[in-house]
Amino acid sequence: MEQSELKKMAAERAAEFVEDGMTLGLGTGSTVFFLVEAIAKRVKDEHLHIQGVATSSRTAEQAESLGIPMRDLNDVDHIDLCIDGADEIDANFQGIKGGGAAHTLEKMVATNSRRNIWIVDESKMVDHLGKFPLPTEVIPFGCEQVFRKLEAEGLHPHFRLNADGKRVLTHNKNYVIDLHMSNIKHPHILKNYLDAQVGILEHGLFLDLVDNVVVGTQDGVKVLTATRH
Ligand code: 5RP
Repeated sequence: MEQSELKKMAAERAAEFVEDGMTLGLGTGSTVFFLVEAIAKRVKDEHLHIQGVATSSRTAEQAESLGIPMRDLNDVDHIDLCIDGADEIDANFQGIKGGGAAHTLEKMVATNSRRNIWIVDESKMVDHLGKFPLPTEVIPFGCEQVFRKLEAEGLHPHFRLNADGKRVLTHNKNYVIDLHMSNIKHPHILKNYLDAQVGILEHGLFLDLVDNVVVGTQDGVKVLTATRH
């Protein structure tokens, strides 16, 4: 099976966790695209009353076009369940997100959710984080200073560029600096360092956050419960 089929399988399984009356956090990316389709089908077939909080305009537009009512994060008192994709998940269920440059809004929605589920194909499950470049979102003002600090720290920063060679802009009109580290030995130490850097709005280390991971594999879908040691 191809990667996109494995993503679809995981997304369709995760859609089964949605219950009538829920407020749902909806992530961003190609796996979430399948999720939104699957949830919209359940809403139609089973007459579910749910509402969504999206982590990007892409997801919001898709969900709305399929009949899922959307709310702003500011306007809900809680989110029951957030389902999102991920770029890497290690053996301790720590993750890297932000391949779609949406990690700041994704982290806002995830940390305001009672339960978090990630949906991935099996290629995203790794022993150690870091092969996937770690995204950060930096405000343009003074960003070269931030870049130099990251470089001096040995974190191998690269501004993310689009196909035209221009710097990618996030939803908030900020830049993305990806850290090409190969192997993140101490995710919590790195998280603390990045959290402390003025000018970095948010980064893609999502630690101690996920509750379940739904993985599409060649042997079928696996639902994993996060255990950390
Ligand atoms: C976007 C993300 C996505 O969830 C992540 O990049 C996975 O994307 P996909 O489902 O397309 O593989 O973090 O910022």
